[in-house]
Formats: sequence, structure tokens, C-alpha cells
Amino acid sequence: MLTSEENDLLCRVEGDAPMGQMMRRHWIPALMSEELIADGKPVRVRLMGEDLVAFRDSDGKIGLLDEFCPHRGPSLVYGRNEQCGLRCLYHGWKFDVAGNVIEMPSEPADSPMKRKVKIKSYPTEETGGFVWAYMGPPEKIPAFERPPFAPDDQTPISIAKVKVPCNWAQIQEGQIDSAHSSTLHSTDMVPARVDSAGATEKNWTRPSTDKAPRMITQTTPYGFRYVALRRPIKDARTHDYARVTVYVAPFISLIPPNSSYNVASIVVPADDESSWFYFLSWGGEATVGTEQWRQFNRLVMGEDIDSDYNSTRTLENDFLQDRELMNNGSFTGLPGIPNQDIAMWVSMGKTVNRSRDTLGASDFAVVEFRRLMVDAVKNFRDGKAGPIGISDPHIPQVEISSYQGIIPKGTDWLTLGTEETEQMFLSNMGKAAS
Ligand code: FES
Ligand SMILES: [Fe+2]
Repeated sequence: MLTSEENDLLCRVEGDAPMGQMMRRHWIPALMSEELIADGKPVRVRLMGEDLVAFRDSDGKIGLLDEFCPHRGPSLVYGRNEQCGLRCLYHGWKFDVAGNVIEMPSEPADSPMKRKVKIKSYPTEETGGFVWAYMGPPEKIPAFERPPFAPDDQTPISIAKVKVPCNWAQIQEGQIDSAHSSTLHSTDMVPARVDSAGATEKNWTRPSTDKAPRMITQTTPYGFRYVALRRPIKDARTHDYARVTVYVAPFISLIPPNSSYNVASIVVPADDESSWFYFLSWGGEATVGTEQWRQFNRLVMGEDIDSDYNSTRTLENDFLQDRELMNNGSFTGLPGIPNQDIAMWVSMGKTVNRSRDTLGASDFAVVEFRRLMVDAVKNFRDGKAGPIGISDPHIPQVEISSYQGIIPKGTDWLTLGTEETEQMFLSNMGKAAS
């Protein structure tokens, strides 16, 4: 349970809200690389309550500018993207990726105005299929770091994207809530007598029927990790089925992998009441291609989402839930794992009231998420700590990973999925908190 002041601190990101200010100190996944084509259509991007326009210039460089022209204010989304700049349609002012005015055809040629005017622009980087933006104070910009899902440029990554009309925190809580997967996603994650989680084109399998996992959490410098222990179908007396999920604050969660590929999700606030959700499969021996991944998740543009990534399934049409499908074996009547999640997140209301929920043992990681992020944002607001995840000690993100597998009872779960630097940090911390 959170007080309404704490709930606001956790959820609000617009304007001066401390959580938004803390998020701005990170490199933010702003949009997918594939959305921007050199000299192609500019893209409207809403982030942290700000309206921005992204474009890729003739040289392939990316600009992320205020959406509205500083002259008289029309949207630059309709502008011409040509010869290394974005030109406003109204009077033809032209801006480069750094926000300089490079042409001002409506003013006298010798006017000093061109040198004086700038449009707001944010620095960008491109890695792992994403354009990343830094929206914080320039003097605080952190070094750009490869995310956990892009250890190198060769690792295959497939991304499904959708805009979700609710606050970011209730989406992120769903990403670190192992218990719900055994129920909400039970049609897509089916128990099987195998030694590890598997994946087919139709569903994922897992070696357990247990719907009530026991959880242990551990705070880390980048956020936290937790293990969900379930009774396996085989060897239940001597072994546990362990699923380790990792939260790399504030945007990324690493979901336990299956035998074919790794899974991650990213949640980025568009504003207080809407968010960008990305679901990723990456690496592994049998990575699925991007189109296949979007089909699997039922997030195909033109079928399930429109060209602005809004889902065709909305609260108003009851997410097109199919009761006949339910009678014929689908647990939810909603196809695709993210669509099932979205129906839950959005139906909670724009921003869920956390003073009213009834938490149990399986919500252990959700409680940890709230405690971690509320403490982090309070300390950041009060100047007692830097932004979570940026401060020392630093664990390289590419060394962070999730885990799933059957382990002998008594195994130290902190060794699962952790590499050298993190192992060292964890052993210095002493015994795991639980
Ligand atoms: S309003 Fe954009 S150039 Fe005049
Ligand atoms: Fe889910």
C-alpha cells in the first residue's frame, strides 16, 4: 500500500515531478530505429509529457526537436525533411539535428535573427534497434551504455511496440510480477514435462504447474532482481523451478528466457497517463524474426495496432474479448501475451490507486519495486542521492541477465544469471534479504 503522496511520487513524470526528473537523467528509449528513414517522414514522439518530433537527416543523423516551430508554432511533424534539415511548412525555417536554424527565408538575408534562434533539441544515440534520448540537464549527461539486450551489434533483436493508455508504473509492476504468468498467460505458457522453458511458434512451455511461487528479492546497484521458485513437475522433492527476473531501473525488465531466446520489456512514460511498451526477444539459438515475433504477440501494424501504435483493442470495446474463444479453451479470450497484459493494466484505471489494493505473498516483488522506486525518488528529490542506476558501484548492463531453470534445492539463487562484477557486488552485500 502507498499513500496518495507516495503514489504521486511513483507515478507522475510530467513537468517538475521528481520521478520524471530522475528518468531524464537516464538515456531514454525514445523510439525504434526502424521508424526513421533518411529524408523520410518525421515522427511525432511524446515523452515525459513533452511533444517532440524525430527525424533522420540526409546523412543518417537523428534529430529530436520540440514538435512546434519557434517562429509561430505549427507542428514540424508536417515539415519537409530535406538536405540535412527539417523545414517548417509555414515560412520555411529550416532546423538541423542540433536545433540550429540553418535557413530563415522569410527574414532579410543579413538578419542576425538566424544566429539567435534555436529550437529545443535533445542528444540522441542509436543502439540495439532503439533511438535513445537524453532529456536531462546537459551538464549531468551520463556516458551512453549498451543496454543488456544488445551486448554487440550482431545480436539479433526483435521488437514489438504498442502505446498503452495508462501510467507507466502499473505496467512495470506487471513486468516484475511472476505470479500472474501462471494464470493470465496460462493458455500461452503451458506446463510441460521438460527440464526448462521452451518456445514454439504458438506458445511457451514451462516445467511447472505451480501457480503460487515463493519469491526472494535482492536490491542491486541498478535496481533489483528476484527469484520466483515453483514446484517442478519432475523431481519436486529435490529441486525447484527457478525464474529470475531483473529490473534495470527505471525502464528495462529482463524476463526469464526460454530455450530459444531471451526476453525483455521496456516501459517509457509518454506522459502521466500513457506509456510506450516494447516487448523484445533477443539473442539465443533460435531467435524469432521481427515479423514472426509481432505475429506471435499479436501486435502487427495494420491488424492489431494503427500506424501510431495505438491498439485496436480498447477499454471502450472491451479489448475485443472473445467469449467464444474462452469457451473453446482460451483462458482469457484475448490473443497474444501483451494484449492480455494490456487489458489488465488499462482496466485498472489511468493511474491505479495503490492505497486500495490487497497484497499477498506472491506480490513480494511488486512491493519491492514500490519500496525501491519511492525511496529512490524521495532521496533524489531531497538531494540525498543521485538518480537510481546511475550511481556507484556500476555493474555493466551487458553483464546483467535473467535466468530460468531447474535447480537443486538449497542452490544460492544469487549465482543464477550473474556474472563476475555482479557476483562480487552481491557477495560484498552478504546474505540476501528476503
Ligand atoms: S511558423 Fe514555422 S517558419 Fe514560420
Ligand atoms: Fe504478463
